[in-house]
Amino acid sequence: MKRIETIAEMRAVRSTFPRLGLVPTMGFLHNGHLSLVALAKKDCGAVAVSIFVNPTQFGANEDLARYPRDMPRDLSLLEDAGVDIVFTPASEIIYPTGFATRIEIGAIAQVLEGAARCGHFSGVATVVAKLLNIVQPDRAYFGQKDGQQCAVIRQLAHDLNFPVEIVVGATVREGDGLAMSSRDVYLTASQRAAAPILFKALTEVRRLFQSGEHNGDVLRAAMRAIIDTEPLAELDYVSVADPQTLVECTMVSTVAMASVAVHFGSTRLIDNFILSNAVLPID
Ligand code: PAJ
Repeated sequence: MKRIETIAEMRAVRSTFPRLGLVPTMGFLHNGHLSLVALAKKDCGAVAVSIFVNPTQFGANEDLARYPRDMPRDLSLLEDAGVDIVFTPASEIIYPTGFATRIEIGAIAQVLEGAARCGHFSGVATVVAKLLNIVQPDRAYFGQKDGQQCAVIRQLAHDLNFPVEIVVGATVREGDGLAMSSRDVYLTASQRAAAPILFKALTEVRRLFQSGEHNGDVLRAAMRAIIDTEPLAELDYVSVADPQTLVECTMVSTVAMASVAVHFGSTRLIDNFILSNAVLPID
């Protein structure tokens, strides 16, 4: 595994691989990240992983300074996973003095996570555009866990004609259903015990959907009611929306993304399920 910290070296090494998959991350890796690495390795033969805690996607009062980091552990996990390149640029490499460009995604970036985290998706889109240009992968891999982020990145790649295929991998969960997240380490023991309430709410909404309930308001109310049973959970939003446009559904016709955001103290967790009449939904 080659560790690369500069853009020039990344470009030079990239040209030695006929096919390359890219998994962008902010590090503090878990099995969710590693599932994307395995998918990329299987698909492309060679895989690059970027580790960069991107300051432009954090709001002023968010957790940039305390975002968990463990580079030695990350490098050893990636080595064991058979990763070919790990790209770990310093902040000054990605955002040198004088950097002044930002990508603004339209309406899909203003709702849900975008409404709760002002400027978040502009920061995500900007750094992902830079990573795609620097690494020039054939395919880039993202997790369904961040369902709105997937929609934003598809929009970015489509609108700006990036010659890359965007691949979305299924959400990897703990045994009790909690979606793995680098932020899970912030939870206290009692918050951790309560955290599967997101999965329970999504499981119930899927059960209702599969039993024929397609009314958006009824589905949203059912999720809200379950989150409300957990005293440690403070609901931010529930949503049943079109997975591409993120417009809330009045009635779900064929497919929707049910998503939920909940605060446990100062820690914010998100999760989603795809509701679909198709046989094998990703979530
Ligand atoms: P990060 O939170 O580190 O996640 C990196 C990738 O792993 C994202 O595509 C995310 O959706 C995916 N992922 C996280 N948890 C997952 C899980 N439990 N199962 C499957 N995939 C999971 O998302 C970011 O970083 C950043 O916004 C980034 C895209 C790197 C831009 O800075």
